[in-house]
Amino acid sequence: MHHSKTVALLWLTSALLFFSLFQMARRDSDKAPSGTGSVIPIRDRRSALYEKMAGDLDEKGPLFLNHGHTSQSLSLSDIFTVKDDGSVAPVLKAANPPVRANVLYLSTQYSVRISEVLKPILDPYFDKFIWFQNSSLYHFSMFHASHHISPVPATQDEIEAEAATVRAVVEGLCPLKIVLDRVVLTSTGVLLGCWQVMSGSDPMTVRAKLRTALPRAPEKQLYDVAILHTSFARLLGEPKASSMVLSSTLDQIHFFHELVDRINKELQGFEAVVTELWYVEEFDVLALALNGRMKVRKFQLGCSRH
Ligand SMILES: *[C@@H]1O[C@H](CO)[C@@H](O)[C@H](O)[C@H]1NC(C)=O
Repeated sequence: MHHSKTVALLWLTSALLFFSLFQMARRDSDKAPSGTGSVIPIRDRRSALYEKMAGDLDEKGPLFLNHGHTSQSLSLSDIFTVKDDGSVAPVLKAANPPVRANVLYLSTQYSVRISEVLKPILDPYFDKFIWFQNSSLYHFSMFHASHHISPVPATQDEIEAEAATVRAVVEGLCPLKIVLDRVVLTSTGVLLGCWQVMSGSDPMTVRAKLRTALPRAPEKQLYDVAILHTSFARLLGEPKASSMVLSSTLDQIHFFHELVDRINKELQGFEAVVTELWYVEEFDVLALALNGRMKVRKFQLGCSRH
């Protein structure tokens, strides 16, 4: 029981950063038009958001290094366990009711290349205290029909109807041509890819259409309406002792900045095209992130007139 509470709390913690940004950005979200004329303002808004996310590590320090020893600074490592062979495995916990998430999907055509850049940079420091996002499951969270914080239970029939509604929305959306703006490490140890949109349906439009189509969905969503991010990896503990001694928080922050800079040098400007939206029932908490149980319905962005 205590453990399940911990997991729920962790889930909340990892969402918290985005909640606050969401609240900030919410006021003017209605004003932002979704037509092509708004490309520059939305772009600036996204950059500002990513800048603020990058500042999170400076502000709070690397909370994930505390291994969850104190209740104040819960670490994501609490949702992982170290196996006998030394590798980490997620501790899966059933989501009840299952979470229903709409996510844009990044094809392995791109994700595998990103993962191949990340591993040689990160592995030497975090050979086991790191969890890489499964490169078959890189995704951009868009809109939840139900989430852990505000569950919206649904019958099987209601879920089928919901999926059909989403399919209809997706037919009217256009593939997104995107570019990696920057990679950011949060204070909770999540390494995020933060993207800009060059053409196609803007995430703000995607979310607005899903919101209209899914009126029962939680009023409070987890992310800023402008954000387009995907989780690459979760750092679960200190860099290997042999690699360096990081005595102060400032040393640690400096080290992580350099690491993220190296990743950015390789990945900034990486381009991709997103052509699928997935309607995912997650039967385990963070199933998409932790290889949990889930049911996926895949819809092609159709770009048809409607
Ligand atoms: C990664 O995801 C794919 C697709 O869901 C799955 O087949 C594969 O087993 C996963 N890999 C791991 C290591 O869990």
